[in-house]
Amino acid sequence: MNPIKHVAIIMDGNGRWGLKKRKSRNYGHKKGLDTVEKIIKASIKNKIKFLTLYAFSTENWKRPKKEIHFLFNLLENYLVNKITQLNKQNIKLKIIGNKKFSKKLNNLLISSEKKTSKNNKLQINLALNYGSKNELVDTFKIIKKNNIKINEKNISNNLFTKNIPDPDFLIRTGNTQRLSNFLLWQLSYSEIFFEKKLWPDFNENDYNKIINKFKKIKRNYGNI
Ligand code: FPP
Repeated sequence: MNPIKHVAIIMDGNGRWGLKKRKSRNYGHKKGLDTVEKIIKASIKNKIKFLTLYAFSTENWKRPKKEIHFLFNLLENYLVNKITQLNKQNIKLKIIGNKKFSKKLNNLLISSEKKTSKNNKLQINLALNYGSKNELVDTFKIIKKNNIKINEKNISNNLFTKNIPDPDFLIRTGNTQRLSNFLLWQLSYSEIFFEKKLWPDFNENDYNKIINKFKKIKRNYGNI
């Protein structure tokens, strides 16, 4: 049975779900947040230590301003209302990606990270303004500037995910099969599960099915 330390998720399909319900894309995002909460709970039940969620990519800035605004508002309200609860549940929040948002949101993100920094039940890595190519370029710049030797360990140690084990597996919902510039280095040996359901329809049962499938996989890492 494979142990699970780290699960990464591309939460795709909110927009389509909202439109399918004859409502708005933003309605889908709102429902998507309910799924986030369900999956956090289920991760704790399954004793998973790291959960990395792709919430906003460097490419998502191309979306209409109204949708971007809605997403960051949703996040802001979520943190204002829920950070104390997350803290009580011994959950640590870490932002991966460049914090280039409004001063208000930046401060909220920093204070939320600080407040939960000592927690150790589950670490949620929230990918915000995250792009893997951008992360790698920044890492190589740091390595060059500090005259650090180039090797796999030193590259890993200068990513946003330093000190975090690589994901055991990635889930992408929404019936789309691509990585979309997410954790390209870190996912190099992860199992990948593409899920047909749209993110707001994804539930604890679907998650547990994937977890059980993963546990049974024979992982050879190039060996036989
Ligand atoms: C991708 O679906 C989803 C996003 C870009 C945003 C993810 C946000 C949430 C799950 C809710 C908010 C989360 C937090 C932490 C506040 P899409 O909109 O690209 O779906 P589509 O492929 O149907 O267009």
